[in-house]
Amino acid sequence: MFKMTSNNPIDPQIVELDDLHEHREIVTFMRRSSPLNTSQRTALEQHQNFILSYPVGDLRQYFEKPEQPLTVEIGFGMGRSLVQMASANPERNFVGIEVHVPGIAQCVYEAGIANLNNLKVLDADAIHVLKAMPDHSINCIQLYFPDPWQKKRHFKRRFVAHERMALVEEKLEMGGTFHSATDWEPYAEWMLDVLDNRPNLENLAGRGNSYPRPDWRPLTKFERRGIEAGHVINDFIFKKIN
Ligand SMILES: C[S@@+](CC[C@H](N)C(=O)[O-])C[C@H]1O[C@@H](n2cnc3c(N)ncnc32)[C@H](O)[C@@H]1O
Repeated sequence: MFKMTSNNPIDPQIVELDDLHEHREIVTFMRRSSPLNTSQRTALEQHQNFILSYPVGDLRQYFEKPEQPLTVEIGFGMGRSLVQMASANPERNFVGIEVHVPGIAQCVYEAGIANLNNLKVLDADAIHVLKAMPDHSINCIQLYFPDPWQKKRHFKRRFVAHERMALVEEKLEMGGTFHSATDWEPYAEWMLDVLDNRPNLENLAGRGNSYPRPDWRPLTKFERRGIEAGHVINDFIFKKIN
């Protein structure tokens, strides 16, 4: 995990974040600065209607039909699969949370073309957004191909962890679902070990199993990369039962 300590992009001084005493909060992402292309820059200006400004509070208030079930996607990347899901499910509301600004721009660009009224996105740490939501207010939380944080000293940054799952459970409605997918088998084993040991969650594929890949989950960019690298895809769908 790295942090730029210089504003000069040509000669960045890079230090290990984990070595900084002041960096106390453990985050599950790494902010990458990449330039926006022209359509992304234009989309950010023209499609402000899709973008929520942090802090947001109860996400349901921003929709024309706030009573519709709410899906929250954590880390949507470039957002194409989120736009496809929102287009295919007008009877639900969708909020995508991402810290990668070109991804947010690309997502609102595509949401504008699809003329959606059931999708909002925001640039924030999903943990902070979830904490501000009322309990039992989200019908589905989805986490597709989260950063696998492969080094042992970075395992604490993996999103699927007992402390973060306690927050997810608190915010899910009774009967609501947590859906994750990964192409990194050690993380799949890790996820199963955490999720199968959450008393408030039921594995819809049966204890110890991954869920057959649902055909209603669109292919994501990182999933395609994983498949091209020969990786096996594992989906997990857990229902909140307590
Ligand atoms: C490996 S990418 C996968 C992107 C996309 N889901 C896909 O499958 O193509 C993981 C993404 O999650 C985002 N992310 C990780 N932790 C996050 C958090 N706490 N809040 C918001 N976004 C987060 C990262 O910025 C990154 O873009």
